[in-house]
Amino acid sequence: MTRGPLLHGEMVRLRPVEPRDADRLWESAQDAEARRLMGASSVTSREDLEAWATEVTDRRGRYDWAVTHAAVRDGQPVSDDLIGQIVLDDVDELTRSASIRLALLPNYRGRGYGREAVFEVLRYAFDGVTDDAGPHLHRVGLEVLSINPRARALYESLGFREEGRLRDVRPDGDGWSDAIVMSILEDEFRASV
Ligand SMILES: CC(C)(COP(=O)(O)OP(=O)(O)OC[C@H]1O[C@@H](n2cnc3c(N)ncnc32)[C@H](O)[C@@H]1OP(=O)(O)O)[C@@H](O)C(=O)NCCC(=O)NCCS
Repeated sequence: MTRGPLLHGEMVRLRPVEPRDADRLWESAQDAEARRLMGASSVTSREDLEAWATEVTDRRGRYDWAVTHAAVRDGQPVSDDLIGQIVLDDVDELTRSASIRLALLPNYRGRGYGREAVFEVLRYAFDGVTDDAGPHLHRVGLEVLSINPRARALYESLGFREEGRLRDVRPDGDGWSDAIVMSILEDEFRASV
């Protein structure tokens, strides 16, 4: 069971994905721009997505969070609706490594939410939070397509370094997209905080 803790940033609050997120997750799954930028190829049915949202936080080796707004009024979140999703996946206790990926719904891009969501997950992954020591990772890696300069800039601004390039991994229109392999190590993250 890898139900992650609540993670609080200034603009975003991350909570485990819930079955009630199915509508927004379905919206995200239909998002043509994100599908292209993330190289999604498989098609999920609405029923499969609902089943996934119900059981994903019970799966070992991954933490799935819904990105929500952090604003609070009278001690309660103003909105708890999912505006994006972020996952720490392939968590390997032996090598202390994992991978990360995220997607925001179209209306919530370009406002710094993605940067803060990745930062909060990295902080948990490397150093834990109050009451939850976290997976105590050494390395967090990812692959970003070369057709996705915004995501690449975001990762670079957080301290991820390029390790190499997988050539022509995805068809894109009449051409192909490379995948850029990136990672950040625990000391690099701490030095950047
Ligand atoms: C990628 C994504 C998560 C980024 O989150 P975001 O909140 O939109 O991030 P921002 O718009 O604040 O931009 C992040 C950085 O990229 C820069 N940027 C924005 N558009 C850019 C572009 N077209 N080219 C280069 N850099 C760009 C911003 O200036 C910002 O840099 P800064 O943090 O140094 O100011 C979000 O846009 C998204 O969900 N995209 C679709 C799915 C996706 O691509 N997921 C990533 C798969 S690897």
